[in-house]
Amino acid sequence: AAGPLVLSIESSCDETAMAVINGRGEICANVVATSVDFHARFGGVVPEIASRKHVEAIVGVYEEVMAQAGAHLGVDTLAPSDLSCVGVTAGPGLVGALVVGVAFAKGLCASTGLPLTPVNHLEGHLMANLFQTPDLQPPFVASLVSGGNTMLVHVRGWGDYQVLGATIDDAVGEAFDKVAKALGLGYPGGPVISKLAARGNKKAIHFPRAMMHSHDYSFSLSGLKTAVITYIEGENRAGRPINLPDLAASFEAAVIDVQVAKAVTAVEETGVSDFCVGGGVAANPQLREAYRKRFGRMGVRVTVPPMVVCGDNGAMIAVVALRNYRAGVLADLSLDANPNAHL
Ligand code: KG4
Repeated sequence: AAGPLVLSIESSCDETAMAVINGRGEICANVVATSVDFHARFGGVVPEIASRKHVEAIVGVYEEVMAQAGAHLGVDTLAPSDLSCVGVTAGPGLVGALVVGVAFAKGLCASTGLPLTPVNHLEGHLMANLFQTPDLQPPFVASLVSGGNTMLVHVRGWGDYQVLGATIDDAVGEAFDKVAKALGLGYPGGPVISKLAARGNKKAIHFPRAMMHSHDYSFSLSGLKTAVITYIEGENRAGRPINLPDLAASFEAAVIDVQVAKAVTAVEETGVSDFCVGGGVAANPQLREAYRKRFGRMGVRVTVPPMVVCGDNGAMIAVVALRNYRAGVLADLSLDANPNAHL
């Protein structure tokens, strides 16, 4: 009754993740193993470490997701023959990380005869919004903000994506990570910065709002990052203690002001009435609130993914895989990873 069962595999960065969903898009199991702790002391993801950790984790994650899905469905453990399709993230991402998931998916499909479908990681972040708003329908505007991407997209239809603009240098998540690194706050920077910012004064320090009035949808984050680091160094040299909450709040406000301003213009120019956000930075409470406030006044509905599917996960990949499977978008066993895949 619940239709096909789809297994998804995601290994584009530092999370080894798999999920099983049914034909109604309901999650039967969602398992994430992260190697984030192994990257923390380097202040960012080390690609070779990520690859090795995927190799270590992937069989265990598979056994766990099949066991959890089995328990959910009232059987002992799911067998490959219970599945209808395997979906795997083919890109974009770190090539040495992607190939681990792709090779595992191909091995599984080669040994079982299950069909294979390739999934675009960014489309996964976009469709994670369906867990919050199942009736979300194009056209709408989406902001994709993660450690690797910052873009505004006009979703004209599912699979019909017009990228309105993107960052010309750093991604938003990357800026959070680099500021946190400069403050010795570890990796990833987003969660710790946003927690500090929640009790800071965002007007304490003025940081530049780059390209805010550039009349396009491009973003630039590297100047802001440099301004924050220059500020930190200046305070350190002067022997003044840094008020971390104020610094975090002021930095975040500079990011959010530009994100919101460009999103508003995109929604106005395209004439849509829905706006959504995807990617790890979508977990940021102040960003969510700023969108809700601004768009609330305009009567535009704002959707953000549930917290558990903001960061990289298998469930969002499974949603895309299910759509692909139904549309007959399949790959043969020559599928390769594409680290630069476009939306
Ligand atoms: O989507 P994701 O898990 O991986 C990528 O595909 O990049 O996003 C991770 C990024 C990191 O840069 C992290 O610092 C950021 O998302 N992030 C946040 C928050 N939580 C995670 N950024 C701002 N505020 C947050 N609360």
